[in-house]
Amino acid sequence: MSPDTPVTSSATALLCPAAILMIRLRPYRPDDGPRLLHLFRDTIRRVNIRDYPASQITAWASDEIDASAWCRRFEDRFVVVAEDSSEPPRVAGFAELEPDGHIDRVYVSADHQRQGVGRAMLQAILAEAERQGLERLFVEASLTALPFFESLGFSTIARQTVECRGERLVNVRMEWLRSETL
Ligand SMILES: CC(C)(COP(=O)(O)OP(=O)(O)OC[C@H]1O[C@@H](n2cnc3c(N)ncnc32)[C@H](O)[C@@H]1OP(=O)(O)O)[C@@H](O)C(=O)NCCC(=O)NCCS
Repeated sequence: MSPDTPVTSSATALLCPAAILMIRLRPYRPDDGPRLLHLFRDTIRRVNIRDYPASQITAWASDEIDASAWCRRFEDRFVVVAEDSSEPPRVAGFAELEPDGHIDRVYVSADHQRQGVGRAMLQAILAEAERQGLERLFVEASLTALPFFESLGFSTIARQTVECRGERLVNVRMEWLRSETL
């Protein structure tokens, strides 16, 4: 999502029932990087901890992550950022789509879980995928995110084990085919 990409608030705003806050989607800005990295680590430590042992959480959300390299990965991708209507706005989540249909990072803040933020971001990604003519999207879903992706029409290809800073984590390769949604 380039900074010029229009994101209409009517299409993407949703009410956040717990806090009575509006959520809006906007394109990624280069100065978002540090806040997104903070959200990434915090979500893993507070949400994914339900499904992964502490040693794996420590490796995944490591303090050793190279912030510059982590933020550079947003370049040349479609990235959507969700923020709430508090003053100043708090980042509620982010999601990204690579040109080949790979969905890489999708994270909703621990304080905005299960309020439709993830679904709204994925709908923006599906709309962008349609705009780009992508027929297939794929993701390595965490165990935490598996029911979320299933609810959006993704199907499981296989479970796999991946290495992360010396720990072995289980995730699930999933795909979404446009032909199956017609
Ligand atoms: C996975 C994640 C992005 C979902 O975001 P979210 O904003 O909480 O999800 P939504 O509120 O949009 O949920 C949409 C639907 O997904 C399904 N869903 C989401 N979380 C679920 C859960 N824990 N259990 C069962 N179904 C779930 C439901 O069908 C839900 O609809 P409903 O609330 O009307 O029943 C979020 O939980 C998250 O950040 N998880 C930790 C980070 C992570 O694992 N990211 C994925 C890396 S690939």
